[in-house]
Amino acid sequence: MTQSNPSAANGDTSSRGLWSSRLAFILAVTGSSVGLGNVWKFPYITGENGGGAFVLVYLACIAVIGIPILMAEVFLGRNGRHNPITSMRLVAERNLASPLWRVSAIVGMIAAFVILSFYSVIGGWAAAYIGHGATGDFVGGNPDTINAMFGNLLASPGELLLWHSLFMALVVLVVSRGLKKGLERSVTILMPALFVLLLVAVGYATTTGHFGEAVTFLFKPDFGKLSINGVLIALGHAFFTLSLGMAIMMAYGSYLGRDVSIGRTAVIVGVTDTLVALLAGLAIFPVVFANNLEAGAGPGLIFQTLPLAFGQMPMGSVFGTLFFVLLVFAAWTSAISLLEPVVEWVEEKTTLGRSGSAMLVGFLCWALGIVSILSLNLWSDVTPLAMFERFEGKTFFDLMDYFTANVMLPLSGMLTALFVGWCVARESLKKDVGLDGKLFGVWYGLTRYVTPVAVAVVFVYNLLS
Ligand code: TRP
Repeated sequence: MTQSNPSAANGDTSSRGLWSSRLAFILAVTGSSVGLGNVWKFPYITGENGGGAFVLVYLACIAVIGIPILMAEVFLGRNGRHNPITSMRLVAERNLASPLWRVSAIVGMIAAFVILSFYSVIGGWAAAYIGHGATGDFVGGNPDTINAMFGNLLASPGELLLWHSLFMALVVLVVSRGLKKGLERSVTILMPALFVLLLVAVGYATTTGHFGEAVTFLFKPDFGKLSINGVLIALGHAFFTLSLGMAIMMAYGSYLGRDVSIGRTAVIVGVTDTLVALLAGLAIFPVVFANNLEAGAGPGLIFQTLPLAFGQMPMGSVFGTLFFVLLVFAAWTSAISLLEPVVEWVEEKTTLGRSGSAMLVGFLCWALGIVSILSLNLWSDVTPLAMFERFEGKTFFDLMDYFTANVMLPLSGMLTALFVGWCVARESLKKDVGLDGKLFGVWYGLTRYVTPVAVAVVFVYNLLS
């Protein structure tokens, strides 16, 4: 994904390669951000948190917190031109700030490791559904048969383990070879294809007779249905879906040419990511309402609804199979970005080399994934934090998802915002971020005040409630 053209031409002294074009950078960042978060997680947390009001808070979090932090992370990467931890140290040194700021990158790295462990399990579900689609299992399905299909998958640890292992192997394979052009190309073709198939699914959804109901559910806010915990989940998801809070965007930004506007790029990525999530919602909720399914069904939501839709539309087996193929690809490009920073770090600290590090980290992550697999069946009654009301009924899997997305990512993002907003010289930001006059002021204000305060307020409210 990078060329070996020396970056000296852009006034950089380091000899790292750069992205071959601005489009390549946008695609790589989009590849990381568009993933299971958009298609799997967004619909199910929206269903669990009552719809409209939750979506509104989520959109506000993307615009006011997500996109500004995306810009801050890319800035740090491009300014530091090293791996995220070193970049942060260098930027801190240049601005006479404490090197301790890099704690935010460390928190992020731990989050990445834990997220990948369950992300791969869900990626495995999607992979299993490719087979179901291809063998015609969706055709003529009704809510009962489709539910049973999903139930059977969750009930068999062996099958889950097989798909989880396959998915993780695919991720390790790419990361151990270093990211190459192939990835860039697959993102160019596969992302737009996923977008088109989502449109097909939305097209079908308009024929269910319940499209209007879904639009109302998604876009008509009813704040009575939103809890303060729901606000935290919306905030956490803004980080999750944009791949923020774990230094990924810093790593990608470190290969970005000087001539590219960070501001404009961040807006393009943020809008694309949000569109994909909203399309997924528009494809899924009409099917939910048409079949009297439960909007708050939880993590299985897309696996219990979309197969119904594919089973009923013409050429459904073809579309259904393709859809899950593309979903696996989207998950794959995101998972690669989750493994990359930890591997980079292990590679630097040990003598294992690139592929040795990728295999070691991949193996440990795979092993942790087994905990998530067991949470779905043999350990489905194990709820370690049940003594707290909020965590009642939450399995290991649920808790890992909750703490990484809703605590670690926002915390790490808040530290990044504080660092960029308060420690980096204003002039250097102004020169680098590529926003003019007023817009720069808006971004600077958001980064300095709004993000840290918003994250802190949501945290404190949650602790008190
Ligand atoms: N953004 C991805 C998704 O929506 C998941 C992801 C990839 C991620 N890299 C990340 C989340 C880094 C947090 C941090 O599916």
